[in-house]
Amino acid sequence: MKRVFPIASLPLVSLLLVGLPMTAQAEETFSDAQLEVMAGSCANCHGTEGRLAGSVPTIAGRPADVLSSRLLDFKHEENGETTIMDRIAKGFTDAELEALARHFAGIDLENDNEPEE
Ligand code: HEC
Repeated sequence: MKRVFPIASLPLVSLLLVGLPMTAQAEETFSDAQLEVMAGSCANCHGTEGRLAGSVPTIAGRPADVLSSRLLDFKHEENGETTIMDRIAKGFTDAELEALARHFAGIDLENDNEPEE
């Protein structure tokens, strides 16, 4: 359990710490640049543009309401089946999680790099 993401977790923590002060004030709308920074930290585990398939679930192209409800559940600890996403989701405001959900939902999975599922 402690060795699940030994490489990914170190840069992630620093990314989250750097990203927080910038985005803490933000409301419902985020610029493309802000979203790119926020979504970049997800790529450590979910693959470029969230397309990875395997032990970490694919998040690209999934319905936005499914993704956002999963993220909000992780953050507010209403989902017991989590190894790491609870800690990650806590680094974002609810509005940021909803924006991230819409961002990943908008990625077209059919468009190259199709995950093997
Ligand atoms: C350190 C690795 C890691 C990082 C970074 C990460 N995730 Fe995850 N994610 C996981 C794992 C592992 C799961 C499976 C649930 C669990 O064990 O916590 C998951 C599950 C999810 C799920 C639920 C998918 C489903 O089908 O239930 C969503 C949505 C999600 N992550 C979104 C994100 C977003 C958005 C980011 C960036 C803000 C992110 N993740 C960053 C590892 C990661």
